[in-house]
Formats: sequence, C-alpha cells, structure tokens
Amino acid sequence: MIAILLLLAAALVLAGCDSRQGTAETSPVGGNPRHGADLIVKSNCGLCHEIPGIAGAEGHVGPSLDHMAIRTIIAGFLPNTPENMRAWIRNPQAAVPGNAMPNMELKDDEAEDITAYLYTLR
Ligand code: HEC
Repeated sequence: MIAILLLLAAALVLAGCDSRQGTAETSPVGGNPRHGADLIVKSNCGLCHEIPGIAGAEGHVGPSLDHMAIRTIIAGFLPNTPENMRAWIRNPQAAVPGNAMPNMELKDDEAEDITAYLYTLR
C-alpha cells in the first residue's frame, strides 16, 4: 500500500513538472527554452518586441511575439517551422532580405534555444 502511494506521489510530481510552460530543460523542437529566455533578455529582443514571460519586453518596433508557436508564417514570408525560425533568428536579412530586423549576431545553438522558448508561446 505504501509503495503504491509513493508511486502515485512520484507520478504527480512528474506530471506537475511537465505542465509548466517555458521552464523545461528541453523542447520537442530541440534547444533549452530556459536558456533561450535568458538569451532573449541578454540580446535585448524586448526593445523591439513584446514577449510574454520576459520582464520588460514591451517594444513595439516589431510585432508582438505572443502565440509564435501556433502562427503559420514568420515575418509574412516563411512557413513557421523550427528550421525557418532558427534561420530567421540567426540572420533575418538572409531569411527575408530587406526586412527591418537587424542581425543579432547569435550563434546556431543560441538561435536554437531562443526558438525553443518562442515555441512555448501558444
Ligand atoms: C531593432 C529592433 C529589433 C530587435 C532588437 C529584434 N527584432 Fe525581431 N523583428 C523586428 C522587426 C521590425 C520585425 C518584423 C520584420 C518583418 O515582418 O518584416 C521582427 C520580426 C521578428 C520575428 C517574426 C515575427 C512575426 O510576427 O512573424 C521574430 C520571431 C523575431 N523578430 C524575433 C526576434 C528575437 C528573438 C530577437 C532577439 C534575438 C529580435 N527579434 C530582436 C525588429 C527587431
């Protein structure tokens, strides 16, 4: 009986961890969303974008990044896939020439972590 109760308690703890958004160590699309959130703060993405869950990210130069996980298109051009999102974050000018977002000089693994965070925004 005690063993069953312990198992039940462990299952509840695990289920609780799974249900929290944006705090997991890994993402189904690769990368670490928690590290991605730190990088978003460090890179000052919030100067230009409103980003849920990022303190002070209230810019209006670019669009709000809310619901980025469930949108169909990135920047009006690219199908919203993890590959395209990483490419966009890595080098917006190469992805969609002539748009207004600057190259943020991020590395591949940094773009992957930021993508992981943006895909928690449903
Ligand atoms: C100097 C302002 C500026 C900064 C800083 C900036 N962006 Fe942007 N961003 C823009 C603009 C402007 C657009 C709109 C481009 C377009 O649609 O042509 C954009 C578009 C985007 C999009 C596509 C949004 C959509 O609605 O399709 C994403 C995702 C994005 N930015 C992520 C980031 C991330 C992550 C960072 C930080 C690493 C960042 N941006 C930093 C200006 C900025």
